[in-house]
Amino acid sequence: MAKKKSKFVCQECGYESAKWMGKCPACHQWNTLVEEVVSKDPARHVFQADNSASKKPEKITAIHSEKEPRITTKMPELNRVLGGGIVPGSLVLIGGDPGIGKSTLLLQVSSQLADKGMPVLYISGEESARQTKLRADRLSINSEELYVLPETNLAEVVNQIESIDPKFVVIDSIQTIYREEVTSAPGSVSQVRECTSELMRVAKSKGIPIFIVGHVTKEGSIAGPRLLEHMVDAVLYFEGEQHHTFRILRGVKNRFGSTNEMGIFEMKEKGLEEVDNPSEIFLEERSQGAAGSTIVASMEGTRPVLVEIQALISPTTFGNPRRMATGLDHNRVPLLMAVLEKRVGLLLQNQDAYLKVAGGVKLDEPAIDLAVAISIASSFRNQASKADDVVVGEVGLTGEIRRVARIEQRVQEAAKLGFKRVIIPQKNLEGWTPPDNIEVVGVNTVQEALSITLGER
Ligand code: TYD
Ligand code: MG
Repeated sequence: MAKKKSKFVCQECGYESAKWMGKCPACHQWNTLVEEVVSKDPARHVFQADNSASKKPEKITAIHSEKEPRITTKMPELNRVLGGGIVPGSLVLIGGDPGIGKSTLLLQVSSQLADKGMPVLYISGEESARQTKLRADRLSINSEELYVLPETNLAEVVNQIESIDPKFVVIDSIQTIYREEVTSAPGSVSQVRECTSELMRVAKSKGIPIFIVGHVTKEGSIAGPRLLEHMVDAVLYFEGEQHHTFRILRGVKNRFGSTNEMGIFEMKEKGLEEVDNPSEIFLEERSQGAAGSTIVASMEGTRPVLVEIQALISPTTFGNPRRMATGLDHNRVPLLMAVLEKRVGLLLQNQDAYLKVAGGVKLDEPAIDLAVAISIASSFRNQASKADDVVVGEVGLTGEIRRVARIEQRVQEAAKLGFKRVIIPQKNLEGWTPPDNIEVVGVNTVQEALSITLGER
């Protein structure tokens, strides 16, 4: 092979050098210089959503905006996370821990599309064709139009895409694919970037949707850094605990839709099944009547879910008090404890606090504040809140309860699941009529919410 020209680029600051160095002279970081092949044809690396020949500026009013037809899968949960189905020509990255079920999910999707008569090419860089076949047998998949290719050389993959002309392609996984022109090992930054940009070109120029699998490193980001996330059209994370059967598909980037959607699946003996009513699942193992547990009506994208928030407050034995949070922003915990201390007079400074969102869900909105505060107070006072109460509201620094978005949907979900009472911000009572099968109580302050849910002290 002819020697290719290459340079070394710092992944942190972009400093370029002709030779490799251990330490970047510009930003002084170690081991950040990565080899890059110098390309004679930089246009090859440019990818655009539209490859049409005319490159003249157009008036925005003259550009047609008719909706792109989307390919819908038989999984409404997946369609929703994607923003209504698969967009032709899109490049989608699915990240997740090894063994979480990425290959299973994509094989199921592939077979559903193949059953519709669309040729599908499944590139398996990690497993042999036989291994993929065994998985397919387990999932009872035998679609005529589903092609499997164990291949890691990208040029060969692209050849096969040209000859089979599939309508859907899966690359499992990006860390095993390589380009011969790039000298570094598969999975390295340069390989991942070069392969992705080539796949992007293929997807855009042929209008084929390509899904690529990316493994997640221990730190939780997709190996072959953020850069990969910037390049693709959509990034979905497939999450869950190895010991639980629930899997959550979450959109973290989407050029064709909203990013805060979540799809919930359950890993069964015969593959992944969708969960239509997540609230029921999350509340299944709820500890009724125990101190430190509160149910919150949270929004996951456009869908309300009811989730249990648990708190354990216990005296610190030595040293600094611990504040730990699983499934929610850990910075909110000391803040809410300070509000409870100052505004309600709970002496929490010598207490350890452990907070947890049950069921392995991650909640990321201020509307869960009040439920967290009530759980903390409930555990601290060792007083259970009522099992059929649901709480929602943001807590301000003066202990005031602030308005939250989409109150109607949250209240409706609570009513649907048979809860008797919902505590909401007073300001959220305006402008709508609450359903009559649930009692809706408005509160202005944390003190008020505590005396309603836990009773006077
Ligand atoms: P897999 O899709 O191989 O994970 P990934 O591609 O993300 O590494 O899923 C592997 C796990 O899923 C494995 O522990 C077995 C389990 N599994 C089932 O429980 N049921 C099934 O039908 C299949 C195919 C896998
Ligand atoms: Mg796999």
